Amino acid sequence: MSNDGVNAGRRRFLVAATSVVGAAGAVGAAVPFVGSWFPSAKAKAAGAPVKVNISKIDPGQQMIAEWRGQPVFIVRRTEEILGNLKKIEGQLSDPDSKNSVQPTYVDPEVRSIKPEILLLIGICTHLGCSPTFRPEVAPADLGKDWVGGYFCPCHGSHYDLAGRVYKSQPAPLNLPVPPHSYESDDIIVIGVDTEKA
Ligand code: FES
Repeated sequence: MSNDGVNAGRRRFLVAATSVVGAAGAVGAAVPFVGSWFPSAKAKAAGAPVKVNISKIDPGQQMIAEWRGQPVFIVRRTEEILGNLKKIEGQLSDPDSKNSVQPTYVDPEVRSIKPEILLLIGICTHLGCSPTFRPEVAPADLGKDWVGGYFCPCHGSHYDLAGRVYKSQPAPLNLPVPPHSYESDDIIVIGVDTEKA
């Protein structure tokens, strides 16, 4: 009789102990989800929009901003540059940017909100190097047909001054255009869509 009482008590203890372990396990499993639902302040800052003053970019030149740890090329294009974009379309892999990444509110050919101001994520779509800005026309190393663009030093991909990749290059896609909007003529906000600004 007394043994039964001991065993019953022991059974109750084991059941209780198992329940606690089970509960602890459940809490432990929930932690990673909670962590991803509420990103840290550092993670929020890394993904935050960035304001850039573009007033100092000379015609035909670029500045480089940083957004989400990535270089963003910002180019002030001239009428001549814009005119050349049309002329080289036959040499491009995806001239209308049908397969490439850009917000719906940018023109798919010139790939910008205002024709003269171009923004690109400066990471080659091949293996992620940063392409070099080469705005010169017909430099010796890029040939007489070069009308300005980007050259990736890692495996030689060529892009035009809308970030569109030429045919038969290692890079498969045009350079992406990041979401952006204008706070004023001189201030661009990278990371905030025009529709939501
Ligand atoms: S990473 Fe640019 S061509 Fe390979």
